[in-house]
Amino acid sequence: MSEQMICRDVTLGYEGIAVAEGLSFTVSEGDYLCILGENGSGKSTLIKALLGLKDVMSGEIKWVNGASSREIGYLPQQTPVQRDFPASVREIVQSGCLAKCGLRPFYNKAEKARCDKMLDRLGITELADRCYRELSGGQQQRVLLARALCATEKMLLLDEPVTGLDPKAQLELYERIAKLNAKGITVIMVSHDVHMSVRYATHILHIGSHKQLFFGTKEEYAESRLGQSFILSEGGENVG
Ligand SMILES: Nc1ncnc2c1ncn2[C@@H]1O[C@H](COP(=O)(O)OP(=O)(O)O)[C@@H](O)[C@H]1O
Ligand SMILES: [Mg+2]
Repeated sequence: MSEQMICRDVTLGYEGIAVAEGLSFTVSEGDYLCILGENGSGKSTLIKALLGLKDVMSGEIKWVNGASSREIGYLPQQTPVQRDFPASVREIVQSGCLAKCGLRPFYNKAEKARCDKMLDRLGITELADRCYRELSGGQQQRVLLARALCATEKMLLLDEPVTGLDPKAQLELYERIAKLNAKGITVIMVSHDVHMSVRYATHILHIGSHKQLFFGTKEEYAESRLGQSFILSEGGENVG
């Protein structure tokens, strides 16, 4: 599979102070990369850097083989305010097409069809006219996934998509994401759950305080001392 993005010795930080150093990893077409690390280790900052929303302090993030930071479907880490957003499901999913609209102030036929396709793909067609804020947490995340897919079907960046959901809704979302990945969509996902990451991902990036602790395949991770210490320890359910 061809490489899409190469991250080489990247340091990230704010106002000259590094939060994560020595980040080096590669993402190829069809990969499913899980990013693990305790709270404050720089996972969300890394996601923003991959999106081109945040500059690196040193090192480089290189997009190759026609991949681009503009062709990413992004699902941000959720806040309570966002969960209370007063718009219909269809409006939210369609807004994923906004980048394609340019200055045109309405959606064309193709964009509406694309929205319908993504509603169907995530099994939320019957929710299209409902108000987003009245949905369950799991339904809301499916809406945001459909929205991200309206932007692109090449790559998804998901920042803690299952956090706050009950175990059943978490499992359902993991299964949906796995299905999208099986269709060839590259997935980069921030997660707290080592077991689920090792189960679904192809690759693991584990960030510690200030530096990268591991990058490799999930098989390599499961055999490493670090991976085993998290998988076997009681606290292994939750890295954060
Ligand atoms: N806009 C910001 N300005 C200054 N510091 C920030 C900003 N955003 C995050 N940080 C700090 O950077 C560190 C990493 O944050 P973040 O990437 O959100 O971590 P994670 O997603 O792994 O929990 C934290 O110490 C956080 O307080
Ligand atoms: Mg975060």
